[in-house]
Amino acid sequence: MAKNILVLTGSPRKNGNSDKLADAFIAGAQQAGHTTVKFATAEKSIKGCIACQTCFSNGSACSIPDDFAELAPLVEQADMVVFACPLYWFTFPAQLKAAIDKFFAFLIGKRPLKVKECALLVVGGGEDLKIYEGIVKSYHLMAEFLGWKDSGVILVAGVQDKQDILNTDGLKRAEALGKSIV
Ligand SMILES: Cc1cc2nc3c(=O)[nH]c(=O)nc-3n(C[C@H](O)[C@H](O)[C@H](O)COP(=O)(O)O)c2cc1C
Repeated sequence: MAKNILVLTGSPRKNGNSDKLADAFIAGAQQAGHTTVKFATAEKSIKGCIACQTCFSNGSACSIPDDFAELAPLVEQADMVVFACPLYWFTFPAQLKAAIDKFFAFLIGKRPLKVKECALLVVGGGEDLKIYEGIVKSYHLMAEFLGWKDSGVILVAGVQDKQDILNTDGLKRAEALGKSIV
């Protein structure tokens, strides 16, 4: 069945490693017949949640007027959410984390999502797989809490400069994951 897949990217580096990884996943998912929407959180302005708990009470998902107003309907239309980002200080970059924090709105606003599954695509400069444990654990806990099936984690370690991912098998793996979504 064709799915609506929302790909949330988190790098300010356009066409950098995680952006390319996102595009490879998208290419695979499209070949499998799915519809994809890519939303680059680093090109938007999404502020941190202020815990006012007035989500969805004033007509918009978040009472802070920012680009989450654009993202919230995309999340509500999605069957799958994919997070594609670089590792920043052992976790998600702030731009993507701010967007994830505002997923709180769907809980406070009692707006159940139809999202059923998710995936994580992450790149980082370091080679030691230990440094990725934090982001992968956060992702798994988030998926479990939200009741989303984890459809895959792709980790591409040892990519520092913008084109480094081209010297790895990361793009192939991301495309294969996209193709495998049923
Ligand atoms: C603010 C910042 C924090 C970073 N923190 C880490 C880190 O904790 N571990 C790591 O291995 N690489 C870290 N990096 C390196 C990036 O993860 C790496 O360069 C990655 O390839 C960037 O991906 P991109 O091209 O998608 O932006 C950091 C880079 C920046 C700019």
